[in-house]
Amino acid sequence: MNRFENKIALITGSSQGIGAACALRLASEGADIILNGRSYDERGEGLIKQINDMGRRATFLTADVSNPQNVINLVNDAIKSYGQLDILVNNAGVEKNHNFWEVTEQEYDFVMDTNLKGIFFGIQAFVKYCMGANRGGVVVNMSSVHEEIIFPHFAAYCASKGGLKMLTRDLATELAPLNVRINNVAPGAIATPINKHLMETPDLLNNVLKNIPMKKLGEPEDVAALVAFLSSDDAKYVTGSTYFVDGGLTYHYEEQ
Ligand code: NAI
Repeated sequence: MNRFENKIALITGSSQGIGAACALRLASEGADIILNGRSYDERGEGLIKQINDMGRRATFLTADVSNPQNVINLVNDAIKSYGQLDILVNNAGVEKNHNFWEVTEQEYDFVMDTNLKGIFFGIQAFVKYCMGANRGGVVVNMSSVHEEIIFPHFAAYCASKGGLKMLTRDLATELAPLNVRINNVAPGAIATPINKHLMETPDLLNNVLKNIPMKKLGEPEDVAALVAFLSSDDAKYVTGSTYFVDGGLTYHYEEQ
């Protein structure tokens, strides 16, 4: 399938994990890719090589997307790189495990700025470009099952993903006349470096698996497949909602 022939995609936080899988999946279907991370290292270098080997172009742009001006510059630099931008995947995200009463303002800002504020202004820059160039666009936000279900000790994370849920609902209506679609992908527990501690702690892992009807963690590629669908014209009538990729976690029912 070449669903992304002549399309350019920017994927934030794409050095590893879900973002890297999205980059490879979109490239495998024909997209040229702008990778992003806070720093460029051998992971970015390796991804560029893999994408080039597929016959696609790839560029790595460093930017800390928790800073609004940085993310605006990132979007504008991405547009300059290949002369257009069709798909924005807001994937970069962070979490902090803390008792609610111990969270500092700095920790709160770290999570909210990355997971919500940066995304807000990144989408704004992309929409301004779409308006100016008189072309449509697609936004996919990497949310979480925790835009919907609780996660004690991760209050700021839940607040950020809950905010992202409403941002997407709201923008879908405001941006539809501009032919800009926007959706959220909500992963459950996925085997990526963000879950290193979970994967290395059997008791913790077993507790998590109890709540997953499919009894296993998801792979980054499972998430990337959904991102590819939502980014493609197969989803041309799909906007303003959230799509779960969670092995059944969100609405599971434990039989007694
Ligand atoms: P990860 O930690 O493996 O990868 C995230 C990437 O984003 C890293 O390369 C990191 O350096 C980058 N990043 C973080 N802050 C950044 C910033 N300010 N500027 C630029 N890059 C930044 O995490 P993973 O698992 O791949 O997560 C990706 C997204 O999926 C996140 O938004 C996360 O909240 C979401 N998610 C992940 C789940 C999981 O189980 N892995 C479950 C639900 C949601």
